[in-house]
Amino acid sequence: MYCTIPLSLLLLVFLPAGTAALPSLSDSAFNWRSSLPSLWGKRDIEKRNGSFETAANGTEFLWIIQDTYEGKSFFDRWSFFDQGDPTHGAVNFTDAQTAFANGLAYVTDDNVVIMKGDNTTWLPAGAVRESVRISSTTLYNTGLFILDLNRAPWGCGVWPAFWTCGPNWPYGGEIDILEGVHDNEHNQVTWHTGPGCNLTPNDNFTGSVVGELDCDGTISGNPGCGITEWSSASYGPYFDSQGGGVFAMKWDEEGIAVWNFYRAAIPEDITDGNSPNPSGWGQPAAQLSPQGCNPLSFFSNHSIIFDITFCGDWAGNSYATSGCPGTCAERVQDPSNFVNASWEINSLKVYEKQWVAGSISSAERVILDIRAMILFISTALLVGLMGAW
Ligand SMILES: *[C@@H]1O[C@H](CO)[C@@H](O)[C@H](O)[C@H]1NC(C)=O
Ligand SMILES: *[C@@H]1O[C@H](CO)[C@@H](O)[C@H](O)[C@H]1NC(C)=O
Ligand SMILES: *[C@@H]1O[C@H](CO)[C@@H](O)[C@H](O)[C@H]1NC(C)=O
Ligand SMILES: *[C@@H]1O[C@H](CO)[C@@H](O)[C@H](O)[C@H]1NC(C)=O
Ligand SMILES: *[C@@H]1O[C@H](CO)[C@@H](O)[C@H](O)[C@H]1NC(C)=O
Ligand SMILES: *[C@@H]1O[C@H](CO)[C@@H](O)[C@H](O)[C@H]1NC(C)=O
Ligand SMILES: *[C@@H]1O[C@H](CO)[C@@H](O)[C@H](O)[C@H]1NC(C)=O
Repeated sequence: MYCTIPLSLLLLVFLPAGTAALPSLSDSAFNWRSSLPSLWGKRDIEKRNGSFETAANGTEFLWIIQDTYEGKSFFDRWSFFDQGDPTHGAVNFTDAQTAFANGLAYVTDDNVVIMKGDNTTWLPAGAVRESVRISSTTLYNTGLFILDLNRAPWGCGVWPAFWTCGPNWPYGGEIDILEGVHDNEHNQVTWHTGPGCNLTPNDNFTGSVVGELDCDGTISGNPGCGITEWSSASYGPYFDSQGGGVFAMKWDEEGIAVWNFYRAAIPEDITDGNSPNPSGWGQPAAQLSPQGCNPLSFFSNHSIIFDITFCGDWAGNSYATSGCPGTCAERVQDPSNFVNASWEINSLKVYEKQWVAGSISSAERVILDIRAMILFISTALLVGLMGAW
């Protein structure tokens, strides 16, 4: 993919990734604080089994929910990209009004979010097919992104992607989490960056490196650094026919990793959604290690993007060798070729890393404790007064 983020998005104020830390939960002298969690404006984080992870420097953290995109409110915080496809697809990306009016974007009665290519209109030769490309209005700097979907688009000439992308391509970085063409069965994860970012050979991931290790998008013709997943249910017909599943992308100071679980194998901590724990998920399908690429400097201010395009730089250029019938241009004309070109999304959740102990300053600690103490005492006094009265 290749991204152009509308300027308006870049002007939005957004939340930096959570770096604030909570006071130590094991500080027994102040156990009573746990009953007054809102005093210091932090979320109540009960110690749940298995949800805490330990960073390389020994500090504990957990992933807590930052944004949930699902159901009827799913489309509230996205902008529809309605300009020409930067990847030269035979596509007309519609504005929101057209997408909703033409049934290309909607939410079903049972809260499944649908985005699709037009599968009802016959096109004259050379015309472009309507489809959807949306970008989150919130921009992210690190996070754990978990997409639960029943179906991802596929089919001859179809090229969908679920990805994140920063400004000033490729300098803000691009992370392609779910991407493929035609009736491929193996998902491809790809990174595009400015010069100086490389995949680490012999790293601990289960997929296979596609081509170059160099992720530099400024090199002419460089397709980025990519990893294809080993699972034949990670994209296309088998992903859809067994009910889809979950794609998770973790981006933090430890690198950028992607996991993919088919529906029957989704870890329980993802399903229950409180505080997913990637350290228990086994090796990721794909990973960009900090040994070869600084994940905090090569990637920033990312919008989340979904799109479906047709033909173009990847699906068009690979069409002749794909085993698909005819030409890609002919393929685009017939709407019945696009019955499987649909996203069916249950939820997209973004979690932020919450450090549990260590980085709060002692001055902040004293202030928090004094504030808590004052409220505690005044509550006690009030209760006492009411009792006396
Ligand atoms: C934690 O695990 C123990 C033993 O497996 C169980 O008894 C307890 O209920 C669990 N606590 C929570 C909060 O899940
Ligand atoms: C794209 O769709 C819009 C809205 O339906 C339409 O006005 C426009 O002419 C289309 N563009 C192309 C190139 O077909
Ligand atoms: C892969 O994991 C092993 C075992 O945890 C570790 O020793 C090795 O350094 C890791 N390789 C890379 C490239 O991080
Ligand atoms: C990210 O966005 C913020 C706020 O607009 C801006 O100050 C910062 O320079 C941006 N960072 C990069 C690397 O573009
Ligand atoms: C759509 O998916 C079904 C079920 O896998 C398959 O039989 C059919 O050939 C697909 N149609 C197209 C146009 O890809
Ligand atoms: C178009 O796609 C939708 C969603 O996948 C499907 O429900 C519908 O039956 C398709 N329409 C046609 C005419 O194939
Ligand atoms: C551990 O590393 C994280 C991330 O770099 C940092 O926020 C935290 O303060 C560190 N903890 C200690 C005790 O150095």
